[in-house]
Amino acid sequence: MSPGRLRTIPDLGDLAGRRVLVRCDFNVPLEDGRITDDFRITATVPTIVELLGGGANLVLCSHLGRPKGQVVERYRLDPVANRLADALGREVTKLDRVVGPEVEAAVRQLPPGSVVLLENLRFEPGEEANDPAFADSLALLAQAYVDDAFGAAHRAHGSVVGVAERLPSAAGLLMQKEIEALSSLVEGARRPFVAILGGAKVSDKLDAIKALVDRVDALLIGGAMAFTFLAAAGGTVGRSLVEPDRFDEVREAATGAQEKGVLVQLPEDVVAAPEPTLDARRETVRADAIPAGLMGLDVGPRTVEEFAQVIAEAGTIFWNGPMGMFELEPFSAGTRGVAYAVAGSNAFSVVGGGDSLAALRKFDLLDRVDHVSTGGGASLEFLEGRELPGVAVLMEEA
Ligand code: 3PG
Ligand code: MG
Repeated sequence: MSPGRLRTIPDLGDLAGRRVLVRCDFNVPLEDGRITDDFRITATVPTIVELLGGGANLVLCSHLGRPKGQVVERYRLDPVANRLADALGREVTKLDRVVGPEVEAAVRQLPPGSVVLLENLRFEPGEEANDPAFADSLALLAQAYVDDAFGAAHRAHGSVVGVAERLPSAAGLLMQKEIEALSSLVEGARRPFVAILGGAKVSDKLDAIKALVDRVDALLIGGAMAFTFLAAAGGTVGRSLVEPDRFDEVREAATGAQEKGVLVQLPEDVVAAPEPTLDARRETVRADAIPAGLMGLDVGPRTVEEFAQVIAEAGTIFWNGPMGMFELEPFSAGTRGVAYAVAGSNAFSVVGGGDSLAALRKFDLLDRVDHVSTGGGASLEFLEGRELPGVAVLMEEA
């Protein structure tokens, strides 16, 4: 974490009649053009309401998906604008471009209290490249900048870093809340500190695992990523997803954890099937002895029980990543069991990542944890102790 103090909205002074560019993370899951989870939209409403209350005109911006510098029709922000308008109970004017003369003209004519949403930032190649010319043209649209996009704070992009360097800038309320909650995991976490990691690919989480062994007392590993650990240790995992090119790294991580006295718990049993389908024939088998034709798709009941015991003793919990393919009912029991254990514990609990969030929502446990982070990768990098470019740029020099 960079030294100094996070600038917040009051640092921007009187905003009445001023145009404020607000970077949001509206990167929501979509299915056939429908938003399947609007948590990232509703989470930023308090900031929008606060700024409107101060008399500002708002120019909101976000990325959606990874269109890679091109216009991709299915990633237009229209569904986001509609959902946001519902959440705010006021009109949101959606523009079809990100920057340029038409956008400048449109935002200049705004009546007081307007809310405008720019088109998907990542339609512009300058966004991910943090191109100075692109940041200049974004900065032209407003007189101040508020960053509420914690989920994108690990990206040094034009709308995250470039524009913050060009305008008076501050963190929004969501950004502030995220940093506060995650900071309490990094500094002075109540012991024991238990991290639960899941999800498909271990390669996404290896850096986090390596860093977490210096902070946590126990690491519970589920999801498909566990199979790389199990296979690297000599287990037989059938057709389960593994990343053989990571065997050395996971072995090192496991040894490193042991040396530091961190409990690393892998699944003991798994629910396996020939394929991930609703009607597949299921079997609960030992996690390190999965029959050849089967793949592990969820952690088994013994694993849930053991994980739950560790979770029940925790003083602090961080959970990122599901325990299995919980979207399919036959493979959801493991994630459900862990979700209930986390919800039922007295620990300070933080859950991050879109899939874990979706799981909590599915099991109706969202309000039973202390903090649900809108950031997946960002929350992991924060916990690793890495400086997030989008946060660093909002810090007052010490
Ligand atoms: C996320 O969903 O993790 C954030 O919105 C960042 O998106 P990205 O991983 O495509 O940069
Ligand atoms: Mg991501």
